[in-house]
Amino acid sequence: MTGDWIDIGAVVEIPLRGARTVPVAGGEEIALFRTGDDRVFALVNRCPHKHGPLSQGIIHGHAVACPLHNWRISLETGEALGEDKGCVPTVPVRVDAGRILIARLALLATAIAA
Ligand code: FES
Repeated sequence: MTGDWIDIGAVVEIPLRGARTVPVAGGEEIALFRTGDDRVFALVNRCPHKHGPLSQGIIHGHAVACPLHNWRISLETGEALGEDKGCVPTVPVRVDAGRILIARLALLATAIAA
């Protein structure tokens, strides 16, 4: 259905193993990640430890290492990996014809939860 997803740009605008952020009016910023195997994931841009900006972390496989204290966060579930405990909300995202689409409802939910 059109209207349920918001086009936020082309996949190729994010380098492989790179990230970008999407501002949310009245809510928490979203971080988009493109992995080395060319998948796209989206999380709220806030580490579950002490709110580090995950978008500035290094991507390994389907996880990102937080730039502040190196917790590894799963891009698929938002959960901290290994010994660490915590979870950051994931955001529904899909790629269609080379464009990145984010669920409109997720943007609203993020804004409401903030
Ligand atoms: S804030 Fe991310 S590991 Fe500490």
